[in-house]
Amino acid sequence: HEMHAFLRALPKCEHHIHLEGCLSPAILFHLAKKNSIALPDPALRPEYTSVKTLEQRYEKFESLQDFLDCHYLAMSVLMDAADFEMLAWTYYENAHADGVHHAEAFFDPQSHTTRGIPLETVVQGYEAAGRRAEAEFGMSTSLILCFLRHLPVESANETLQAAASSGVFSKDSSVIAVGLDSSEVPFPPHLFQDPYKQAKNLGIHRTAHAGEEGDPSYIRQALDLLDCERIDHGLRLAEDADLMREVASRKILLTLCPLSNVYLRCVDKIADLPIRRFLDAGVPFSLNSDDPVYFGGYILNNYCAVQEAFNLSVEEWRSIARASIEGSWISQKRRSTLF
Ligand code: ADE
Ligand code: ZN
Repeated sequence: HEMHAFLRALPKCEHHIHLEGCLSPAILFHLAKKNSIALPDPALRPEYTSVKTLEQRYEKFESLQDFLDCHYLAMSVLMDAADFEMLAWTYYENAHADGVHHAEAFFDPQSHTTRGIPLETVVQGYEAAGRRAEAEFGMSTSLILCFLRHLPVESANETLQAAASSGVFSKDSSVIAVGLDSSEVPFPPHLFQDPYKQAKNLGIHRTAHAGEEGDPSYIRQALDLLDCERIDHGLRLAEDADLMREVASRKILLTLCPLSNVYLRCVDKIADLPIRRFLDAGVPFSLNSDDPVYFGGYILNNYCAVQEAFNLSVEEWRSIARASIEGSWISQKRRSTLF
């Protein structure tokens, strides 16, 4: 209806989208065949019988970990640069259709390097899709390299070193930041101070998933110990009034993912999210899709779901769009074209 068209036309920035989270069951079966990767035996895991049965499985996750188990298994079919490019292109096409003008996309290098895929192959494929989105859609795009927090900090350090020495953080590269994702509890941010310190020394931006399942101390650690400039999810910030005031006054952007929070049972329904409280407290946030294939669609579905639940005014929507432009890691020149 009317509001839907308005939200579609609103110039949007996306900051919380895992490119591997665009790997649909259809792509999974296609690439498994192309790359001769064995999927689980349907006799033991009936959900891997067909595209349809796997889609049905993705409709009911019990928790973050339950989702991650499916997600990491799916990634095993990605092999060459063309596979990564196709995956990212799927994202950029859908994002463009939803009215995204600027995207900063996460990727998980360790999910691929641990299978013997070179970091360069992953980045090459993702960057090719980004360049195409810039040329064909006029989007601006960049990449955020995430460390997997369920792996030891030594692996994160090695990943950072490999990225630095292979030019992945060079001036003309798309990779502008590091992030931290995967199973949140019991892997608190303080475990990753080393690679974050190194990233800061390299002049790389910093963000981390915190306060999705973890309590507000995870957000506190991400800010104080990892020197994060943004917080991914940050849902549980609403439980700590002092920290909420600090985040508002420092203009730390939360990258919220409403549908993800429902699918992973962080909340029962969208209306239970602290959207109204964040607006009232002046906490800046953007709305994002997280893992679109798994959590009910791309960014516009998230905007529309929030509108259904909170009936925000046009002015409130404009202020959300403004905060998401201000919180983007882009040049002043690009920023001024987005307003
Ligand atoms: N990896 C992909 N999506 C994630 C999420 N929502 N939380 C943690 N790690 C993730
Ligand atoms: Zn995420």
